[in-house]
Parts: sequence; structure tokens; C-alpha cells
Amino acid sequence: MTDKLNILVVEGTAREGRKSIRPARYVTRKLSERGHEAELFDLGERDVPMLKHTRYSDNDKHPEDIEVFGQKVEEADGLVIVSPEYNHSMPGSLKNLLDHLFPEYDGKAFSFVTVSGGGFGGVRALSHLHDVALEFGAYVGPDIPVSNVGSTFNEDSELKDENYEDRFESFLDDVEEHTRKFS
Ligand SMILES: Cc1cc2nc3c(=O)[nH]c(=O)nc-3n(C[C@H](O)[C@H](O)[C@H](O)COP(=O)(O)O)c2cc1C
Repeated sequence: MTDKLNILVVEGTAREGRKSIRPARYVTRKLSERGHEAELFDLGERDVPMLKHTRYSDNDKHPEDIEVFGQKVEEADGLVIVSPEYNHSMPGSLKNLLDHLFPEYDGKAFSFVTVSGGGFGGVRALSHLHDVALEFGAYVGPDIPVSNVGSTFNEDSELKDENYEDRFESFLDDVEEHTRKFS
């Protein structure tokens, strides 16, 4: 067990104007400030086409950014998935990304930030993410549903709503504890 953890934060949508990137950047920054190796894998900056070849079965055919993602997942002690809720689930882009790997997730610690523009914090996406992570053989860990994301974070990914400060600190404590347990 080491004090410094390697944590991969995954931003699950590439939508132009997306607001979930704000908590994704915030959480990545906060984990780095806590002394961890935290990196953001941002679907908005990656080229991940619709699944044609998984990394585990078509080793020489999968996309370059999937190889990057696969290596980062293998190196990580745990993942923090950041997902908006689209039509009561996770975005298709996130499910498509996740489906490219499988054995790489086995035994990894997963934590979740879900996001909505309204008041429900993406909890229906969270429920589906739990199901998917369990299928991976991952360890389902802490979550923080973020409501009204546009007013909770500003465009510089700073927390505007002070009611969330303690909740995020407590979430990050739980992410550390959960990830350490399975690293
Ligand atoms: C395709 C689409 C479907 C959505 N479906 C839901 C939904 O089912 N429930 C909800 O609370 N918000 C829904 N929203 C609003 C999102 O919560 C909102 O866009 C929020 O800002 C987070 O997503 P973003 O990162 O794309 O900005 C939807 C948004 C889009 C673009």
C-alpha cells in the first residue's frame, strides 16, 4: 500500500458545451493537490470511434486512443468516472468507450461523479454505471451526484456553490480510502 495513488478520471461526454467537464477538471485538480498522480482522460480530446474491435480480442486493430486508455486503466489504482445523465442513463459515448476494454477493469476501484442540469444529480445514470462496473468485476465505490451543474461550477471549473465544498472533500476522502483498499 502506497500513500500516492494513481487515479484516472474519465470524462464521459464529448458534447460541445458540456458542463460535466467542470467537475471532471475539479476532481482531477483536487486529487493532484492531495499528492496523487491524477490524470483526466477526456473523451472530448480523444478519437474513440464506435466499437469495432475490442482491445482484448483484436489486439492490432483497436484505435490508438483505446490503446492509450487501456494502458492508463492498467496503470491506475482506480478510476473516477464522470458522467452526465442522458435520457436516464450514461451517454452512449461513455458506454462505447468502456466497452472497448474488459479484463483491464477487473478488481479496479471505481468511483463516480454524476451530473445533471436539473435537480436529480444524474442518479439514474449512476444506477446504470453501477451495473456496468459490477459486470467488469470492478469494485463499486463512492459517488457524488451533482445537481444544477451550470450554477454549481463556473466555466473555470471552480466550485461556486459552497454547499458542495464539504461534500466534495468527503467524496475525495472516500475515493482515497476505497482506491487504497484495492490497489
Ligand atoms: C442528450 C441529452 C439527454 C439528457 N437527458 C437528461 C436526463 O435524462 N436527465 C437529466 O437530469 N438531464 C438530462 N440532460 C441534461 C444534462 O443533465 C445536462 O446537459 C448537464 O449539463 C450535464 O451534461 P453535459 O456535460 O452534456 O453538459 C440531457 C442532456 C442531453 C444533451
